[in-house]
Amino acid sequence: MGRASLRQRSTRLVVVVVFAGFLGIGLIADYLWASSPHFAVNSYVSNWAANDKSRANLIVPSRSANVSNPQGKAEAGVGVPERVLSATFADLPAPELKWEKMAAAPVPRLDGAAIQIKNLLYVFAGYGTIDSVHSHVDIYNFTDNNWGGRFDMPKEMAHSHLGMVTDGRYIYVVTGQYGPQCRGPTAHTFVLDTETKQWRDMPPLPVPRYAPATTLWRGRLHVMGGSKENRHTPALDHWSLAVKDGKPLEKEWKTEIPIPRGGPHRACIVVDDRLYVIGGQEGDFMAKPGSPIFKCSRRNEVVYGEVYMLDDEMKWKVLPSMPKPDSHIEFAWAIVKNSIVIAGGTTEKHPVTKKMVLVGEIFQFNLNTMKWSLVGKLPFRVKTTLVGFWKGWLYFTSGQRDKGPDDPSPKKVIGEMWRTKLKLNP
Ligand SMILES: *[C@@H]1O[C@H](CO)[C@@H](O)[C@H](O)[C@H]1NC(C)=O
Ligand SMILES: *[C@@H]1O[C@H](CO)[C@@H](O)[C@H](O)[C@H]1NC(C)=O
Repeated sequence: MGRASLRQRSTRLVVVVVFAGFLGIGLIADYLWASSPHFAVNSYVSNWAANDKSRANLIVPSRSANVSNPQGKAEAGVGVPERVLSATFADLPAPELKWEKMAAAPVPRLDGAAIQIKNLLYVFAGYGTIDSVHSHVDIYNFTDNNWGGRFDMPKEMAHSHLGMVTDGRYIYVVTGQYGPQCRGPTAHTFVLDTETKQWRDMPPLPVPRYAPATTLWRGRLHVMGGSKENRHTPALDHWSLAVKDGKPLEKEWKTEIPIPRGGPHRACIVVDDRLYVIGGQEGDFMAKPGSPIFKCSRRNEVVYGEVYMLDDEMKWKVLPSMPKPDSHIEFAWAIVKNSIVIAGGTTEKHPVTKKMVLVGEIFQFNLNTMKWSLVGKLPFRVKTTLVGFWKGWLYFTSGQRDKGPDDPSPKKVIGEMWRTKLKLNP
């Protein structure tokens, strides 16, 4: 109760600040809204945006400020030197959307995987907690909006950080982390026939990876980037394997042109015969040396928003970057008309608190114009969401959500399912 009224009050406060913010945002907002008719028509005030943070920069006292004189700035004349930090971690202004809460998944999951085939969303694996992982598949039916059907994964299959793609019937499942915490990866690779629910082995990857970019392109299963076996070091390697109807046509993976930037947790999508790799990060949590449970310990990470593309020339091209760096989006996208839509993720850590910062925006990449825009906001910031699109509705489930409207750092692992009627920017 108290919480609800607090929220109402803070919403009112946000209203004021957001409008003040909008007046001051200027350039960024102009740029972002340039192609958005929804701004005028369809947007109202955010229920969680941290509004004034949408300034491009954050000014903080310099690290070299006089520590024995912390109030230095207050002293006449002698300002503490300031440094200007990129505020790419901040929430971006985006239209409010109406969200409908649907039936929650049977289990909460973090770092799971998902594949949509027609009206069904197959949701795989994931952490339940940092100390336990799932080894089964749940299915959501977009026609009756219910979860139904659960079946086991092979025992040797990775539980998180999987690469996954479908041809419309067969789901190819590549490598990933085996077990909870920050355990090692497996090179094991499988294919699922969704009609018979039968699993088969595929040739293992040459070496295991964590969360490599994975897709099907021109009859070949492509796997690239990800983290190396220590979970942290970005890999540039790119392999492919000819496949057809759930069967490998070759015994070994072929080496392909390396990706210019490595690392895990990127969206990898083929549209109109072009292969796109979007966002991601370099570095990730690693097992603490000597820890018997492979306890996760934080390491330096760099999140980025770059977009790479392969076409006929088989040379990587760089396309416009996302409006902000975004990672943990490997299953957080859908293709809608001629756009790629991406929901949530993680962005650069907060420069002062150093905490991980989750993303609450939905981004649109229009493949006709090669321009990014903001479609709207999720009901909260969340990473590793599993996204589907059916008959005009954008759905997302699972992931790890923020601490609350005022704190974008990660907290609860969820199984919730939400949907919104998606209106794309032109
Ligand atoms: C730091 O502040 C103290 C107290 O005001 C002053 O005595 C000292 O000279 C300052 N040091 C520097 C490097 O500015
Ligand atoms: C999905 O739901 C529809 C409507 O209830 C039903 O006809 C269909 O059989 C379901 N599909 C699966 C695979 O369960």
